[in-house]
Amino acid sequence: MIGVYLSGTGNTKHIINLFFDELGASGRTFPIEDHLVPGLLAGDDLIVLAYPTQFSNTPYAVKVFIEENKPLWKGKSVFLISTMGAFSGDSTGCAARQLKKHGAVIKGGLLVKMPDSVCDNHAYKHTKEKNKEIIAVADEKVRRATDMIKAGKYPRNGLSFFDHIRGLFGQRLWFYNKTTSYCKGPKVSQACIRCGKCVEVCPMKNLEVKDDKLISKGKCTMCYRCISMCPRKSLTIMGEKIVEQVRYEKYAD
Ligand SMILES: Cc1cc2nc3c(=O)[nH]c(=O)nc-3n(C[C@H](O)[C@H](O)[C@H](O)COP(=O)(O)O)c2cc1C
Ligand code: SF4
Ligand code: SF4
Repeated sequence: MIGVYLSGTGNTKHIINLFFDELGASGRTFPIEDHLVPGLLAGDDLIVLAYPTQFSNTPYAVKVFIEENKPLWKGKSVFLISTMGAFSGDSTGCAARQLKKHGAVIKGGLLVKMPDSVCDNHAYKHTKEKNKEIIAVADEKVRRATDMIKAGKYPRNGLSFFDHIRGLFGQRLWFYNKTTSYCKGPKVSQACIRCGKCVEVCPMKNLEVKDDKLISKGKCTMCYRCISMCPRKSLTIMGEKIVEQVRYEKYAD
């Protein structure tokens, strides 16, 4: 078994690693941006693919990853994990449908509620204590899922027809275009000191400091990692101002 994940603020990375630990799986997990991933996946029959829900859908970079590695999925068993801030409906189902077209067999799905990563928006922001509670509940859900799997039954969160309808009408119909291409990239405020931290952490290598300016190369998958880590809080995507920088590590102690 091998795991691959996209994670902006660390939630999905934590959940997939816990999933592997609880299963006592000998395999390892890799970030989607690791260029060795396609080669590593080719050698394994069971793949766990994990990502944050975006608008009740799969992030664009994950859709591209699935397409770019089309031949790899034929005959593979795939288990899908999607983390979310509040509601996803069928974000596992979205990748499942795409993967099935390329011959994958979907073993199951797991949806896990975690702290919301959109730090330039007031919705779903919680105290540190509340976020710790959310993580404790999430961890317990992962443990229940891995117990089921050990007993030979895979959970199927987000994979039913009912989940599909909930995801579609709950959000996807209205925000579908947000996940059909890369976003231009974050907006940069005057507070930026060109320290390069965001350049270093971007999984898409989308940012660059050039001629004393921070520029975006139009390949942003809206993961919010740079935004959550900028020391000057000078980056935003959907909102205009940082409400609270959100990272799994802030709540993990
Ligand atoms: C652009 C964007 C869209 C999101 N859309 C949803 C959503 O539709 N439903 C939801 O419950 N959470 C949504 N979230 C929250 C994330 O899915 C959630 O916080 C996730 O655990 C973040 O994982 P990560 O830390 O691994 O990036 C969204 C986050 C971002 C950045
Ligand atoms: S991390 Fe923030 S301050 Fe540093 S270069 Fe990026 S946007 Fe500017
Ligand atoms: S520019 Fe920021 S939000 Fe966009 S992919 Fe890179 S780190 Fe994520």
